[in-house]
Amino acid sequence: MKISLNSISKNWRGSVLREESTLHQLSPYLGKMKSSMANSLVSAFTSKGDNIYDPFCGSGTIALESWASGRNIIANDLSPYAFTLTRAKLYPHYSIDDTNAEIEDIAKQVSLYISKVDLRHIPMWVRSYFHPETLREIIAWFQVLKLKKSYFLLSCLLGILHHQRPGFLSYPCSHTVPYKREKNFPREDFPELYQYRPVRERLEKKVARALKRVPHFDNDLIRMCNRYDAAKHIPKQKVNAIITSPPYMRQLDYARDNRLRLWFLGERDWKSLDSVISPAEADFISLFRRCLSQWKNVLIRRGLCVLVLGDTRSRLYNMLLPDVVAHIATKEVGGYSVCWKHTEAIPNERRVRRGCFGSLTETILVLRKN
Ligand SMILES: C[S@@+](CC[C@H](N)C(=O)[O-])C[C@H]1O[C@@H](n2cnc3c(N)ncnc32)[C@H](O)[C@@H]1O
Repeated sequence: MKISLNSISKNWRGSVLREESTLHQLSPYLGKMKSSMANSLVSAFTSKGDNIYDPFCGSGTIALESWASGRNIIANDLSPYAFTLTRAKLYPHYSIDDTNAEIEDIAKQVSLYISKVDLRHIPMWVRSYFHPETLREIIAWFQVLKLKKSYFLLSCLLGILHHQRPGFLSYPCSHTVPYKREKNFPREDFPELYQYRPVRERLEKKVARALKRVPHFDNDLIRMCNRYDAAKHIPKQKVNAIITSPPYMRQLDYARDNRLRLWFLGERDWKSLDSVISPAEADFISLFRRCLSQWKNVLIRRGLCVLVLGDTRSRLYNMLLPDVVAHIATKEVGGYSVCWKHTEAIPNERRVRRGCFGSLTETILVLRKN
């Protein structure tokens, strides 16, 4: 395979926030891939009309770039938060006016439901993030939006759930992970940050930000998003390529770090979810053996498996993770050959986990089904 390094990685550096579709910015996601990287992997390794499968889709970056580039996309992630964001990106709203009309309608249902919200049933750790009246409203909005399966508005609401800026709903808190910032913003000095924050006006502003740059999409293309364990799921359609960035050996805790958003989506046991979606080394290896076996049934003959893997060291194999995956694919599971490998520095914002630096580089490993 002749892929020019320049053509594939030239636009990965620097910020793309002002150029990418604002749908990518619906809500933060730790470990999210840069949209320019997703775009170049899709363009380099597939053609228009191809079927792509992303079994670990996270916030749906590869899914959205695949669809925007004229590919059919089957996405999957076991996390309800990831599933909600990806569904929203694959079935976006287009018109601010239509969305505001829908919000008007939903607000009427919210006003009927709100008197039924009893905060005494809400765990203290959740209550500690919000003014009680704001929390009552948030719960009512989530309830109605979940019943209506309105993934786009749910994602917008998730995107404004916590931060300390005026457009957000919580007491001072970081945006990506729910760490409170009460020490930096004491109540006595910043009373305005602890006041009631009405939901609707903030949601409308968030919708306007989300719909600022929406590319042209072909609605005839296949777009699917599932919520299965990737090791057990075999999509019905055969695919030309699997393009994905799996969890790397417990470097990020996808459920713990999204616990507040997951709670509002109805996931009350983030610890059990993390034991599956943030696997430690032995579980990661086992996950990968099972996935690589399954994926032989999903890929067409000579189909590609494009994996973005952190360069963390496996103690069990005494090798870097990309080499372990290549070894499992070619020697243990068999039926694959390595056809391309490229290592890049991981941008700082994707590397963070408190108190831990994690991998400094990541490798794009491309396997071909024999
Ligand atoms: C590195 S993140 C993907 C990030 C994504 N590319 C993006 O741009 O947002 C890995 C994802 O794998 C998901 N995951 C982990 N184990 C899984 C499993 N067994 N089945 C399905 N999804 C899983 C996690 O929930 C997480 O969202």
